[in-house]
Amino acid sequence: MNIIIFGPPGSGKGTQSKKIADEFKLMHISTGDLLRDEIKKGTEIGKNLDSMGSGKLVGDDIVIDLVKKKIEENPKKGFIFDGFPRTVKQAAELSKIIDVDKVIMLMVNDKEAVKRILKRGEKSERVDDNEKVAIKRLQEYKDNTQPLKPYYSLKGILHTIDGEGTVDEVFSEIKKLLS
Ligand code: AP5
Repeated sequence: MNIIIFGPPGSGKGTQSKKIADEFKLMHISTGDLLRDEIKKGTEIGKNLDSMGSGKLVGDDIVIDLVKKKIEENPKKGFIFDGFPRTVKQAAELSKIIDVDKVIMLMVNDKEAVKRILKRGEKSERVDDNEKVAIKRLQEYKDNTQPLKPYYSLKGILHTIDGEGTVDEVFSEIKKLLS
């Protein structure tokens, strides 16, 4: 089974993906984590990811290459893709290498999303967890990622889930959908 979860920053993609991976024995691929890892390791890719700090999306080709590598390294796995694809180009590339069974769109309003990001920002080391960058990330989502809604809706695999309940309430809805 291959699942995609997308939604605005702070909607709970990472939190729910970990639970989905555990429950359904899927491999969790978070492109945000993969990119942060490249920065941490100081790789050639990581040295060119300054745009992440300002809330802009990273170039499609970089992200697609990282995801392809992960898939190739784990050919027998099912995957939960967290924060990927984020553009229609990424979605089209993914469709060439894997069949996606279900796409979950987590719905959270802007105010709640920013509130969660700022709360995490009190403790996290993420340079993008501040109000100015959170607003930019939301705008990037609206401009580049929301077009995935009609894209996957036309394929008949889009499912929207209310992300504003508690973590357990949201996961319970996801479990019903995937079971
Ligand atoms: P990424 O790491 O994917 O971050 P994001 O999309 O901005 O999402 P967040 O991690 O902030 O939130 P989330 O939805 O995962 O929620 P979480 O579970 O963490 O991307 C970072 C950057 O990398 C991008 O801006 C871009 O530059 C680049 N990038 C990544 N992928 C890319 C791609 N495919 N293409 C191009 N560029 C890419 O929860 C957030 C907080 O809320 C946590 O503190 C959590 O504990 C809390 N929380 C979760 N659920 C609930 C709940 N139900 N109730 C209350 N609090 C909750």
